[in-house]
Amino acid sequence: MKAPLKTLVEISQLREELAACRAQGKKIALVPTMGNLHQGHLRLVEEAKRHADFIVASIFVNPLQFNPDEDYESYPRTLAEDQTKLASAGCDLLFTPSVEVVYPNGQENQTRVVVPGVSEGLCGQKRPGHFDGVATIVTKLFNFVQPDVACFGQKDYQQLSVIRKLVEDLSFAIKIIDVPTHRTPEGLALSSRNNYLTPEQLAKAPTLYATLKEAAKELAAGNTHFNELNHQARARLAEQGFAPEYVEIRNLDLSPASLTANTWVILIAARLGKTRLIDNLIVQRDSN
Ligand code: PAF
Repeated sequence: MKAPLKTLVEISQLREELAACRAQGKKIALVPTMGNLHQGHLRLVEEAKRHADFIVASIFVNPLQFNPDEDYESYPRTLAEDQTKLASAGCDLLFTPSVEVVYPNGQENQTRVVVPGVSEGLCGQKRPGHFDGVATIVTKLFNFVQPDVACFGQKDYQQLSVIRKLVEDLSFAIKIIDVPTHRTPEGLALSSRNNYLTPEQLAKAPTLYATLKEAAKELAAGNTHFNELNHQARARLAEQGFAPEYVEIRNLDLSPASLTANTWVILIAARLGKTRLIDNLIVQRDSN
């Protein structure tokens, strides 16, 4: 039986603990999360262990990245289960501060980090201010923990792009490690929000990935009619009862897809009932 996971809620305690770690020459990794952990999060911890000696996970449901009509209040909070899972995955320390600790001057008054370009469009357009909230909390977590490396999932492709630019533009000496999306055997990308799906919706949800794969096949084979492929994918999703928000093919840096590129990313966001799902797939042009 694993020892209970050391869990801290104050920034000063965290800094003290990590200073002792650094004094021992340990490399520190951060795995930022909002909790309600699934296998995808635990993969982040596993990957972190390959790059560092001491793994800090954070659980903080960040109000700044939710719009007023979103699920901040109802977002599942499952601390005891999360602690057990993190301990079994080999995490060394959990930081789970309150909103007051993170935003002591109030949310309205909080200095925000805005990452231009990659934050715009896609989820940035559908969820105004979302990436400012993400960039702000990630910057704060980086300052609290000062990790050598930090791990994020590829499922949130645009978020990953925002964080990479943030690290570069603000000169953080932190290596960002991205970890492939963990899927169910049917192809559904793991997400805490999958818990909102009814059994019927859960059975339908893998269509998102099947749609990505279908478009990817065309693209890889040389069909670069991007708008047509987007349109077909949207139609397929709508047929299956999804309300598509966007289907877009972009270059890897999220600029508009170019005909001459050899690699692209297809990004999808769609609602299934009340639940918003996102997914993406990187596609390489076939070489023959
Ligand atoms: O991906 C998430 O869970 C969150 O957006 C993150 C990076 C922990 C910031 O709140």
